[in-house]
Amino acid sequence: MLIPREIIDDIRARNDIVDVIGMYVNLKRAGSNYNGLCPYHSEKTPSFTVFPGTQSFYCFGCGAGGDVITFTMKSENLDYVGAIEFLAKKSGISIPQSAAEQQGGMSRNRVFQMNLEAAKYFRSCLFDEKLGSDGLRYLVEQRRLPMTIIKRFGLGFAPDSFWSLTNHMTRLGFTEDELIAGFLGGKSKKSGKIYDYFRNRVIFPIIDTSGNVIAFGGRVMDDSKPKYLNSSDTPGFKKSKNLFALNYAKNHCSERLILCEGYMDVIALHAAGIENAVATLGTALTQEQARMMAKYTKQVIISYDSDEAGQRAAARAISMLSDVGLDVKILKMKEAKDPDEYIKKFGVENFKRLIGESRTGFEYKIENVIAKYDITLSENKIKAAGELCDYISGVSSSVERDVYTSSVASRLSLSFDSLKNDVERLRRKKLNEYKAKTFNNMKMSAMGIGDRTNPDAAKNIRAAAAEEAIIGLLLIFDEYRDAIMNEKISLSSDDFLSDFHRRVFEKIMQLHADDGGFSFSLLGEYFVPDEMGRIQGIEQKRRALTQNGYDVLYQCVQSLKNEKNSTDSDDGISEIERLLENKRKKMQNQ
Ligand code: UTP
Ligand code: MN
Repeated sequence: MLIPREIIDDIRARNDIVDVIGMYVNLKRAGSNYNGLCPYHSEKTPSFTVFPGTQSFYCFGCGAGGDVITFTMKSENLDYVGAIEFLAKKSGISIPQSAAEQQGGMSRNRVFQMNLEAAKYFRSCLFDEKLGSDGLRYLVEQRRLPMTIIKRFGLGFAPDSFWSLTNHMTRLGFTEDELIAGFLGGKSKKSGKIYDYFRNRVIFPIIDTSGNVIAFGGRVMDDSKPKYLNSSDTPGFKKSKNLFALNYAKNHCSERLILCEGYMDVIALHAAGIENAVATLGTALTQEQARMMAKYTKQVIISYDSDEAGQRAAARAISMLSDVGLDVKILKMKEAKDPDEYIKKFGVENFKRLIGESRTGFEYKIENVIAKYDITLSENKIKAAGELCDYISGVSSSVERDVYTSSVASRLSLSFDSLKNDVERLRRKKLNEYKAKTFNNMKMSAMGIGDRTNPDAAKNIRAAAAEEAIIGLLLIFDEYRDAIMNEKISLSSDDFLSDFHRRVFEKIMQLHADDGGFSFSLLGEYFVPDEMGRIQGIEQKRRALTQNGYDVLYQCVQSLKNEKNSTDSDDGISEIERLLENKRKKMQNQ
């Protein structure tokens, strides 16, 4: 692998696909996704879709697709490594020249052991009068943290020195390479000497739910930049898969979790006796974090910063959390920028009142739309109603659609029936557009028109369809990759009839067997953007049909084997024609 997996994950976590694509394409929200005009082919109605939930994009018109790295490759005309470097630079991530060698060979346990020693050292510095008094004064006087909380969170202090931690750790037997790989040290370009990564900062250890110290965040004590320095992902630590303080909150959250933006917000809440608060680790909420929360709790109250960025992030978090089945509420704060400041100003009892008053995602949407338009003007009222109907039309439960429609009717003093008509009309329109696009694509690919990516598909479309379904499932689900790896389902690359699908299958399984596991972005190193688009398309189609995935997988494997064994090989062309004829008839009868 050219670039370490951790760095690629970090780059994806820090470059939200909606933000990145939003700089090139004018995106409009459509349900939980975003639509826009495709930058890769000319079109009048938007078929280019961005999926924040899976951090991917797909154009239903031309079949371009992939993740944020593929998008950057295509848009900036870069190769895989070039695109990664481009995104890394944009988000302030440095790619260590020899990162691969540095991180290789260091086990998770060794990283944890090293971090634990470092955490102990930072803590001892905080309580050392000579070294740490500035840090302790900052935490106690400026942040007003009680000593019990400072100790419970294991806070520490990195002295204002270039060598104190690295000296200490070297004495304990950790090598320079290990310190660098764990982001505790960096190597000076000039002298070639190792130096402390965290200097003159208060330190927040990040501890996973099993109690391992997996990383550190360090905050300056004044207004200098960057405010926080964080360890990048290492073998033991993925920001996208952990939450700050979940190790404490997990015992207090059977009903709900409170999700904040900042370390300090979480600590302030815990200090005030609210022990079910967690925060993401300096990145936007990821799907993995959402799923993790769903394991521990039923409801999440989003308590992000009250500024615009915080509110935008909250809107995105709502759909990610609802997508994994969590009940989501949003807490609204006035006259304070974040929970920490709010509690200092107004006290914890008032914050608890805000928790009680937190609103559902839809109420939040209504309020935002109403705040945007002055609805005393009927023209604006129509616009507001249109925007809300459009939003409601993307909701899949019809009961939920009715509940929302009725609340819009009462907020805007409009008739329920006419709003409902609009909602259902929009819903039908969206469904039809979706069907037409999918059909068009199927038709094109069934006829092998322009299919330079997988020319073999036209030879046996039944096999190609089975292969596509298998790959779709393997792209999405860990457990199916396991099933094949453990030979619970026997399938090998020899079973594939088309060359392209075989290559994709081989890579997926190979990456799955690797240490870090499979992730879509890793394919970017092995496939060109056109192929990535196709793979994204396969995943997209499959996501729409993921119910009963196991049965589908099993059946597809069987039918692929049947195809391979069948002696009377099909004449591909007549098969396609027959299929298309059937489709045409069906369409005409609709
Ligand atoms: P905030 O700036 O809201 O931090 O960033 P905060 O926790 O409220 O900090 P205080 O109250 O000013 O001390 C929210 C989170 O974003 C990440 C950190 O995880 C922080 O807690 N962040 C912020 C960084 O990683 N780097 C930065 O430079 C700034
Ligand atoms: Mn703050």
